[in-house]
Amino acid sequence: MCGIFGYCSFLKEKRRQEVLEVLCAGLARQEYRGYDSAGLGIDGDKPGEVVYFKEVGKVIGLRKKIAASSIDVEKVFVSQVSIAHTRWATHGPPSERNCHPIRSDETNEFCIVHNGIVTNSGELRLVLQKRGYVFETDTDTEAVAKLTKYIYDSQPDKRISFSELVKAVLKELEGSFAFVFKSIHYPNEVVTARRGSPLLIGVKTDKKLKVDFVDVEFAGQDNEAKVDVPPPTPSSLLAPPAINPKVLRTQSRAFMSEDGLPQPIEFYIASDAAAIVEHTKRVLYLEDDDIAHISEGELHIHRLRRKDGDQTPSQVATTRSIETLELEIAAIMKGKFDTFMQKEIYEQPESVVNTMRGRVNFDSHQITLGGLRAYLQIMRRCRRIVFIACGTSYHSCLATRAIFEELTEIPVSVELASDFLDRKTPIFRDDSCVFLSQSGETADTILALRYCLERGALCVGVVNTVGSTLSRETHCGVHINAGPEVGVASTKAYTSQYIALILIALQLSEDRISLTERRRQIIDALHEMPGMIKKVLEQDQALQQLATTIADNKSLLLMGRGYQYATCLEGALKIKEISYMHSEGILAGELKHGPLALIDENMPVIIIMTQDSLYPKVQSAFAQITARKAQPIVLCNEGDAGIPEGAKTVRVPKTIDCLQGLLNIIPLQLLSYHLAVKNGADVDFPRNLAKSVTVE
Ligand code: F6R
Repeated sequence: MCGIFGYCSFLKEKRRQEVLEVLCAGLARQEYRGYDSAGLGIDGDKPGEVVYFKEVGKVIGLRKKIAASSIDVEKVFVSQVSIAHTRWATHGPPSERNCHPIRSDETNEFCIVHNGIVTNSGELRLVLQKRGYVFETDTDTEAVAKLTKYIYDSQPDKRISFSELVKAVLKELEGSFAFVFKSIHYPNEVVTARRGSPLLIGVKTDKKLKVDFVDVEFAGQDNEAKVDVPPPTPSSLLAPPAINPKVLRTQSRAFMSEDGLPQPIEFYIASDAAAIVEHTKRVLYLEDDDIAHISEGELHIHRLRRKDGDQTPSQVATTRSIETLELEIAAIMKGKFDTFMQKEIYEQPESVVNTMRGRVNFDSHQITLGGLRAYLQIMRRCRRIVFIACGTSYHSCLATRAIFEELTEIPVSVELASDFLDRKTPIFRDDSCVFLSQSGETADTILALRYCLERGALCVGVVNTVGSTLSRETHCGVHINAGPEVGVASTKAYTSQYIALILIALQLSEDRISLTERRRQIIDALHEMPGMIKKVLEQDQALQQLATTIADNKSLLLMGRGYQYATCLEGALKIKEISYMHSEGILAGELKHGPLALIDENMPVIIIMTQDSLYPKVQSAFAQITARKAQPIVLCNEGDAGIPEGAKTVRVPKTIDCLQGLLNIIPLQLLSYHLAVKNGADVDFPRNLAKSVTVE
């Protein structure tokens, strides 16, 4: 989905070339989120001038456009504000016209970049059109830019502060969003705000910050403006809000220098930590309804709403801490690999170790999940466990559901977040709801979380991205610690989610004596897992060859049952999303109820026949399809002599039944990768897809 990047330097001389480089690099780091056009807005040569560069397609195209322009790249700015954006089209097709930043008018009084969707933009547009505003783009964002100008123009003496102006604008908006506002009326100031879309601010100073937090300035606080903003609904636009311009400002302690003089400082605003880490590791995550105002080298956080029952404890906290990112720049570089997806597939022997690190004692066979400790008893006593997720994260829930039920003896249901919400599924106080998400920002999963929070259920997060909305808004949880996943197709997050869920089930069942042996076996098998994954990865070349033999087919079916049904679904998802070949995961037990009709000598099939208790049943599925002339590729265990001679095989080491899916998915990840390369697809940026799905 869209990516935001803003850069504000104060008392720090920067050549325009440097500013442009910071912006383009910030956008490039967020490319993986998925986008179809990119743009930026920087200060012009004269005060009050804004210069835009916009291009459909990749950031590299934007760079070329800048390089080909005659702009004076040597011009030096002592302080400046610039904003940039990668757009994933929602309102209006990808085009330069619809590319952000979006301006309020020809003189660029206000320009903004925006993620998310303003759901009442149509209404706002109509009201503003009636008042004579002429729109130049198809975007929902333009209504916000013009509304900002409208409210500004309505102020009799124009002394309203930038943050109060934005607050008045945001009060009019419905939907989910993250914004950065720049204005010729507020030179060197920038305002950024979020509701439902992630946003963080990196801070870079020469000297250490005095304190590690920023105070939140709540409306109505003594140290803030006593503003009188009537609720500005679209109809109230006809009677513009009167805003008291008198704004008393607090000195933000974090940014005060010892001698009281302003100190040089740089701020980086982004949707994703990956865009900031190369500049600074000191970051502050904004909460929903936070409005951050950067001016004169200081950062002030305001709240859109006063304290009320709907807000989470972290939203109503009186400070926002400046945290240190635990992210190394190497983690977001491709290194020796051709693509991020390939790198991430190969990282799995290490990423699964990182998921277990400090949590599994392989000698005493004990599990310690610090993030769940205080909630284990509540979970053990709950009436049912509901897993809620989307896409690959959903598949990791399916893959572990059986062992979860076996170990905990609690019924587990698995829900696709969107369907869960569509059905308005009944949820009760004695339910435990577990939310799985790599990004922690998937809109449907977040909405499902809020739905369950409202109903009083215990909400547990299993998330990769530290600081994400899901990890902050759940009661407790487990970070999967897989490291940043940049490739749009999720690979290492799947195996780490899988292991994290197994660890939760093991921990929940630790008081069940009858399961001691089973638990020991699983923990021993976990110990061997990294080495076994390495062994599977050694088959990469063979899988590349296999890909060449099937790349020209239109479709590929994957069959299995029991634990391996989830592997089939996940393998099929990988294949379709990056190679664009139709692929379907089929439960082998359902063959006779329909899918068997697809089988003939031309239909490529992969059947998963690793040795678990359902092996005889899969053998019978194998017999049924070969009787119809299919020539399936068999994914089976090393040394299994039961596979009919002459069958094409992909062999993986044998592990305990509930972990076999971790090994079986790896050849399918590699196969999908090679199919995509063979078909000439852009592996890391599959068409129409985004890494972080922040809209419903
Ligand atoms: C597939 C894929 C998606 C995500 C889904 C949920 O490879 O990446 O299906 O799994 O969009 O995303 P998260 O896990 O971030 O909630």
